[in-house]
Amino acid sequence: MASVTIRRLSKVFDGGVQALHELDLEVRDGELLVLLGPSGSGKTTVLRCVAGLEEPTTGDVVIGERVVTHAPPAERDVAMVFQTPALYPHLTVRDNIAFPLELRSVADAQIARRVLEAAQRLGLESVLDRLPAQLSEGQRQRAALGRAIVRGPQAFLLDEPLSRLDAPLRIELRGELLALHRALGATMIYVTHDQTEAMTMGQRIAVLHEGRLRQVGTPEDVYQRPADVHVARFIGTPGMNVLQGRGRGTGEEGRVIEAGSLIIPVELSTYEGELQLGIRPEFVGLCAVDKGVGNADVLVVEPLGSETLVHLNAGGQSLVARLPGFAEVRVGTRVGVKVDRRRLYLFDAAGAPLA
Ligand SMILES: Nc1ncnc2c1ncn2[C@@H]1O[C@H](COP(=O)(O)OP(=O)(O)OP(=O)(O)O)[C@@H](O)[C@H]1O
Ligand SMILES: [Mg+2]
Repeated sequence: MASVTIRRLSKVFDGGVQALHELDLEVRDGELLVLLGPSGSGKTTVLRCVAGLEEPTTGDVVIGERVVTHAPPAERDVAMVFQTPALYPHLTVRDNIAFPLELRSVADAQIARRVLEAAQRLGLESVLDRLPAQLSEGQRQRAALGRAIVRGPQAFLLDEPLSRLDAPLRIELRGELLALHRALGATMIYVTHDQTEAMTMGQRIAVLHEGRLRQVGTPEDVYQRPADVHVARFIGTPGMNVLQGRGRGTGEEGRVIEAGSLIIPVELSTYEGELQLGIRPEFVGLCAVDKGVGNADVLVVEPLGSETLVHLNAGGQSLVARLPGFAEVRVGTRVGVKVDRRRLYLFDAAGAPLA
């Protein structure tokens, strides 16, 4: 296994779309790094540049000690698994898994042993003689993983491999992939747009937004200390509330932030003028009208069992509160809003954090 390093990687496609802007990223040897970002943010393009399926416009890709920026895919020794499992329809599962070894003229006995080993790891022993069309979606994705595993590559590049599976299967395979990562000590770049998957799987998460890497850190880092407003909004289900506001000193009242219908006293902020105020839904509460930092109208109530999400309109700005259990809140009513003032995040108008 090897580290994967990306240096100032940019990609401009024919037609002028700039998919990546000067990305710097180091994936350590044996690390499972999740590349997270919304649709169109450039995740697949990063993987394709690492795999050699796409030529970067500028910058370098280094695998281990080797600069492979212009090397053909076959010389990079990385295995890519796609969202839709790419299996040969006319080959059995056994032959599909064996395929990369056949290409390299590995001895038959060794192929048989390695295919069986991979099949056992992935629970595919009983379907080895079936064709892809005779498999379930989950089995097909497992077979594609098997084909990646037998090669013993320097790194695995996984492009949303679970996104087509139903929820229980996704959770099951998520656990299996984590076990596989531990067992193989493999370097893995795992692409997803699902932030729950990112939080539960990544040793570190790299957040991509509009072709720029916004933050690389542990799940706790990106949740607790988002590098900018994009990361803040994207991480968490639902993400952080971000209100447009302004800071103001008011003499007698002290310093406040006004955002929509809310007026929130703050102690530390010395910031005057336009800003963005971030607060996670779990730190927003409801109270009687005129008892909180402002009033809001209840737009939607989502009882989820363990918690209730309440979507509010606070003077034209949307705000979500996460309340425990089944909360007694009615759509169309006006409520008071409380916020935990120790949990506020302040960003400037462009989205950078304010100290
Ligand atoms: N071959 C191409 N030619 C031109 N533009 C492209 C090409 N491939 C991708 N793009 C553009 O580059 C940007 C990044 O695309 P990419 O496929 O990397 O996004 P992604 O994050 O993987 O999205 P998704 O989650 O939808 O798979 C998008 O704006 C896309 O339209
Ligand atoms: Mg993609």
